[in-house]
Amino acid sequence: MFEKVESIKKQIEEAVANTKEELEDYRLKFISRKGVISELFADFKNVESKRKKEFGIALNTLKTQAENRFKKLIDQVNSTDSKRDSGIDLSLPPIPGQTGSLHPISIVKNRMIQIFERQGFNVTEGPEIEDDWHNFTALNFPENHPAREMQDTYFIRKDPDLLLRTHTSTVQIQLMQNENPPFRSIMPGRVYRNEAISARAHCFFHQVEGLYVDKNVGFKDLKQTLYHFAREFFGKDTQIRFRPSFFPFTEPSAEIDISCFICHGPGCKICKYTGWVEIGGSGMVDPDVLKNCNIDPDVYSGFAFGMGIERITMLKYQIDDIRLFSENDVRFLSQFE
Ligand code: PHE
Repeated sequence: MFEKVESIKKQIEEAVANTKEELEDYRLKFISRKGVISELFADFKNVESKRKKEFGIALNTLKTQAENRFKKLIDQVNSTDSKRDSGIDLSLPPIPGQTGSLHPISIVKNRMIQIFERQGFNVTEGPEIEDDWHNFTALNFPENHPAREMQDTYFIRKDPDLLLRTHTSTVQIQLMQNENPPFRSIMPGRVYRNEAISARAHCFFHQVEGLYVDKNVGFKDLKQTLYHFAREFFGKDTQIRFRPSFFPFTEPSAEIDISCFICHGPGCKICKYTGWVEIGGSGMVDPDVLKNCNIDPDVYSGFAFGMGIERITMLKYQIDDIRLFSENDVRFLSQFE
């Protein structure tokens, strides 16, 4: 009999229960009235009388042990159950932190700055609210000249001499007025034009202006600088072409085209089946503009260029609607790294 008590004690110590079913098995085996311990109580009468007391104590101890163990097993099963019910699967790999990404305009602007910086250009910025002189007069736009109309200017109602700059060429003037040559600078920034908003045009956008003024700067320097930019930005086999144009502040002036980096010549939707895409305007700084900034045109010469960042970004990523850049839709913005 005593061996039986010992063996049941061992079974109780070793018993485990991970589920409600296993808990019930334990209860039936050790606690219930039909369990092994109750059976032992029935054997009481077979124990010789001088050991009855000893047996009774042993049985009662066993019963308490069985009940204590049962309580522990209940706690254990409940706690594993609550872990399961919380819906958290602790074996799953962690979700990486979601970081934001740069706006495509910033990505392209930074890349443009990087390419020009490697050619010795630094970065200059200027105000978005300007006066008529910096936006027009100093840049050789004659009073009442239709070119002023072409720029669709937003004037500030309280002071019609103030306006939202229509191009970053204003920063050329700021730079040349405030510092001494030589200058080799690029000037990124936001500009404003009173245009009807459509897929192709917006009332504000961004430009990168470039200015290089020194002794003996020639058209060849302009060509080489932009050729290098085009190859770095659009790919090594990019060709460049200059088309005669007009800007009041440059003479001669030229529109800059690059060979289509999508179809490489035969024509496609991006280049409108011409094999060439326009990326900006350029020219040699008009001597009168240098004079307006107290720079002697007999000593110094220079070139300038201007490119629209939205336009370059739309070409690069084949985006067909300029409005996407200012709508702040994360589904669009999160596509750029
Ligand atoms: N400022 C001109 C524009 O906005 C671009 C340009 C800049 C042209 C510099 C020539 C030289 O259209």
